[in-house]
Amino acid sequence: PRGCKLIGSGSAVPSLLISNDDLAKIVDTNDEWIATRTGIRNRRVVVSGKDSLVGLAVEAATKALEMAEVVPEDIDLILMSTSTPDDLFGAAPQIQKALGCTKNPLAYDITAACSGFVLGLVSAACHIRGGGFKNVLVIGADSLSRFVDWTDRGTCILFGDAAGAVVVQACDIEDDGLFSFDVHSDGDGRRHLNASIKESQTDGALSSNGSVLGDFPPKRSSYSCIQMNGKEVFRFAVKSVPQSIESALQKAGLPASSIDWLLLHQANQRIIDSVATRLQFPPERVISNLANYGNTSAASIPLALDEAVRSGKVKPGHTIAASGFGAGLTWGSAIIRW
Ligand code: ACO
Repeated sequence: PRGCKLIGSGSAVPSLLISNDDLAKIVDTNDEWIATRTGIRNRRVVVSGKDSLVGLAVEAATKALEMAEVVPEDIDLILMSTSTPDDLFGAAPQIQKALGCTKNPLAYDITAACSGFVLGLVSAACHIRGGGFKNVLVIGADSLSRFVDWTDRGTCILFGDAAGAVVVQACDIEDDGLFSFDVHSDGDGRRHLNASIKESQTDGALSSNGSVLGDFPPKRSSYSCIQMNGKEVFRFAVKSVPQSIESALQKAGLPASSIDWLLLHQANQRIIDSVATRLQFPPERVISNLANYGNTSAASIPLALDEAVRSGKVKPGHTIAASGFGAGLTWGSAIIRW
């Protein structure tokens, strides 16, 4: 059997910083409400025509490759976890081209909202263990700001844009750094969090009105803004995430007390605190950078991991319990050794 280990990380955020005070200028809110209910103070937001998701992903991936000391030609698989690609058909092949991966690695997208990065790790491990792949780039990147209703104070305060990446490399099983996974989904919970497809106004060419073919052709579609029942999502997270981490720990044969760091999807500080309390992780063993970036969806775990690695918090050999959760609904945990 083959092992897989994480050997490099990188991250990138757009330069435009929007503070809670900035948001108070466009919706009826204030810094105090946002900070106490969510822990968020600032977020980074893409600028139309200047930033792109592929651009952020490439920047994060380049930094991860540098840390890993792996050249783009040695990458044989790129997994891009995102729900907000610049192109409906996916972003990963564009990243492959921009990085200059001349050996044309397999590159495809994974759509699983805020659980996307954990599911990217699961997929990387499967491809390495079962498919003979050697160097896999796992990227989590999202730009939910493009799908937020900036007049809805219940959601617009939460989200930010970012990209994070890791290089996962095949190794001997003794050096394995991906100990176990626990992953779930529940389509019933979609009613609490979604950004549904919607039919746009008919335009001339695509109008089905009066067509000799009845309901054909269909109307052109776009996506509506994020709709969320915050209380239900909160309830789901504080119940499901501790169970999922406990299950992953059990599969790894490790007690929570042996894990160096708890690293959750950065959605709300109160969710992070609640899960940490339930699993008896003291605050000093919990990674959080939510205050600076808000909820960056699939990017939040690799972004926080990269900052923790570069600041010297997470050191080689440290173990991490990481857990993502969000739309779908989807949720999942990974026990990792850095
Ligand atoms: N500023 C000021 N007041 C506000 C704001 C705001 N930004 N937003 C809501 N309020 C008001 C409400 O109108 C309400 O007022 P009322 O009592 O007069 O009716 C009051 O504050 C309480 O609102 P609630 O929605 O009940 O506030 P709650 O404590 O539930 O916090 C929040 C809302 C922060 C959204 C919380 O429910 C939450 O974080 N939920 C989890 C969301 C999440 O984690 N999503 C992650 C997944 S994202 C993904 O996968 C894409």
